Amino acid sequence: MEKTGIVQWKSPSNIAIVKYWGKKAGQIPMNASLSFTLSQCITDTKISYSAGNGKVEFFYEGQPKPEFFPKVRMMLDNLNLDFLKDFDLIIESSNNFPHSAGIASSASAMSALALCITDMQRNVRSLDKDFLSLASLRARIGSGSACRSVFGGAALWGKLESVAESTDEMALPWKSNLHSAFSDVQDWIFIVSAGTKNVSSSAGHKEMNSHYFRTGRITQAQQNIIQLIHALKEGDWNSFIEIAEMEALSLHALMMSGNPGYLLLEPESIRLIHAIRQLRKNTGWPVCFTIDAGPNIHVLFPKSIEDKMTDWCFTELPNYSAETRIIKDHVGNGPVKVQ
Ligand code: PMV
Repeated sequence: MEKTGIVQWKSPSNIAIVKYWGKKAGQIPMNASLSFTLSQCITDTKISYSAGNGKVEFFYEGQPKPEFFPKVRMMLDNLNLDFLKDFDLIIESSNNFPHSAGIASSASAMSALALCITDMQRNVRSLDKDFLSLASLRARIGSGSACRSVFGGAALWGKLESVAESTDEMALPWKSNLHSAFSDVQDWIFIVSAGTKNVSSSAGHKEMNSHYFRTGRITQAQQNIIQLIHALKEGDWNSFIEIAEMEALSLHALMMSGNPGYLLLEPESIRLIHAIRQLRKNTGWPVCFTIDAGPNIHVLFPKSIEDKMTDWCFTELPNYSAETRIIKDHVGNGPVKVQ
């Protein structure tokens, strides 16, 4: 068994179509969620370990980052892994996209960390479960949505009666349940604001405990996920569009109608929503939006219309041509081990 070593993983963000919003103790979701795993928004995390007594140092983009450290420490503490007590860790992490801007940076960050910890365990002890399932379970402890990033293509997280192997503890790979019409989904993220959001997802989840629409939301998410599973299997873009946009707007409606209510959308987000809907109406193209917990707008469509989308964007939204205003992402194959 190794006494020193290095493990390094690059893990992507994901975009939920049916959203996880609200949780119970231990990061157990209030409802099941289903997401596409992305490929361009990546966290790269490296852990250098050596025999020691549980000391952890954390660097973000080469610098100590005290404001991120408590989340890392909390995740490691909550994992409660005996073998970690015998090692000192140096964790070095970097993102290639803005953090805290509604691009689910916690999903890529926590999945990368969970993959590294699980890989380290594989080197210094042994694993009692399949590697990716264990990494997903651990990523969930760091940030719920992170458990879905561990699997390429798509992932489902949360117990559903109709999916026997589904569980609240970890995500399931969902790629093999996608019709070929969904094999090359593009996600163009229009960056309305790259600043830190003023209300965290944790605060939003918490509000769901006593939200006036809590029961209704659970029923809605349950129906939407069952319909989404069907649409993804059948290659039905029309139903997909209906569900994706309903979920995005419902998520933000829940934020607005909480106590206290809050708004993460900006006037520019609304302008983009109207532009996408108008485009669909005018052309009949299978294009829609979804939104995470932030003001940025994710535009989803199949690769077959990418050239047309490029022309449309160039003509209608010329101020998004700069690289800092748009991330052209797409569904990807999941995390990659470095070295
Ligand atoms: O994983 P968290 O606790 O950051 O929650 C994220 C929730 C949403 O991104 C808004 C939806 C989702 O399912 O990813």
